[in-house]
Amino acid sequence: MSSADIRPRLRVAPGGRIGGALTVPGDKSISHRALMLGGIAAGRTDISGFLAGADCLSTLRALEALGVRIERPAPERVVVHGAGAAALRGSGAPLDMGNAGTAMRLFMGLLAPQPFDSVLVGDESLMRRPMERVAAPLRQMGARIETREGRPPVHIRGTPALHGIDFRLPVASAQVKSALLLAGLGANGHTRITEPAPTRDHTERMLGAFGATVEREGLTVSLEGGQALHGASVRVPADFSSAAFFIVAGLLAAEHGLLLRNVGVNPTRTGLLEMLRRMGADIRLQPHTQEAVEPTADIEVRKSRLSGIHVPRELVPLAIDEFPIFFIAAALAEGETTVRGAEELRVKESDRLAVMAEGLTALGVENHLLDDGLWIRGGGGFGGGRIDSHGDHRIAMAFAIAGLAAREPIEILDVANVATSFPGFLELARSAGLSIEAR
Ligand code: S3P
Repeated sequence: MSSADIRPRLRVAPGGRIGGALTVPGDKSISHRALMLGGIAAGRTDISGFLAGADCLSTLRALEALGVRIERPAPERVVVHGAGAAALRGSGAPLDMGNAGTAMRLFMGLLAPQPFDSVLVGDESLMRRPMERVAAPLRQMGARIETREGRPPVHIRGTPALHGIDFRLPVASAQVKSALLLAGLGANGHTRITEPAPTRDHTERMLGAFGATVEREGLTVSLEGGQALHGASVRVPADFSSAAFFIVAGLLAAEHGLLLRNVGVNPTRTGLLEMLRRMGADIRLQPHTQEAVEPTADIEVRKSRLSGIHVPRELVPLAIDEFPIFFIAAALAEGETTVRGAEELRVKESDRLAVMAEGLTALGVENHLLDDGLWIRGGGGFGGGRIDSHGDHRIAMAFAIAGLAAREPIEILDVANVATSFPGFLELARSAGLSIEAR
């Protein structure tokens, strides 16, 4: 069965071993950015390793609706024929971002300096997510943007000119930072953004590869408006956030090791490695040495005995998408694990703190939901049962991996959104040794 047909339910048989060598699909964050920068650059942008998941396809279709010519010579290869930001045209119809928060927030920044009107909408989950965190600073730059009580639909009215700002982000968010950098590129003057803690820096790196000058000093990143981008060649590495499910799977059940090839290991993304190593995980990296915009490595993991930890707060933004699978590892680690300072997890594709707490409880794991985190007593293994993923792709995949350490089958509901970030998850999980089926 192909991943496109993935059904709304998964059933995972308990136990099993895994091993071998896997390549997970391309990075979602980098694929979105490659498309968008290609769409506002002049000339040809060649993307290989593109993530052909629903989220990035929403970005691709939105750019086409804005007048950008795009070809797909193969599922994972995309050629964007950009003609500069000034060549974008209003779409006339609302732009549908599907489940993709990154697409919506980055498009807000990209479209705010445009002279035409745009409307951004999304699926049920995205229509509940906060957008004022981007809209408010964009208004300070002179943008005319309306949200519905802070949420989509987002109406962006054509503006003759934005001006740069000096802005301190109240939350550590790469999406907000990136949206403001994209708006700053189309604004007059200088835009300076200061983060409360480091977040993923793919936009800054990629702007450099497209010919822009971006300055970084400590937690501040800045750029001059009006810089023209030129098309570039982008090799998208395998997504660390997708590899994360198999990293934990390997720690649970790879007696003879599991190899993950060509994974993006940008240090602003790999907080999970640090967290797992502190728990006692056997994880080895073989870094690739060629010069690249994004560092990559092969990652080898082996079955390990894990112990609970208190996660340092500064690691939270560096592992922000990995908490669903981290909580699975924590439930199997001996002793207590605590995560605090992670209130951002409440506004992801689902409330990931509440949904993970509910799922862990269903599998018999003692835990306490905190305002800004989760406390887990690990080491007792998982029973079986039924988990509601609440339509959240990462929750669904995390509980699928939990099956490796379960005593009874696990059934996971509402899993269609796995295809937003990880097309082919089921097939890859099976090829590694999981007994998993769609129903
Ligand atoms: C992303 C940033 C993160 C992350 C999301 C992708 C990005 O969101 O959770 O999956 O590509 O910039 P926040 O910036 O809201 O933390």
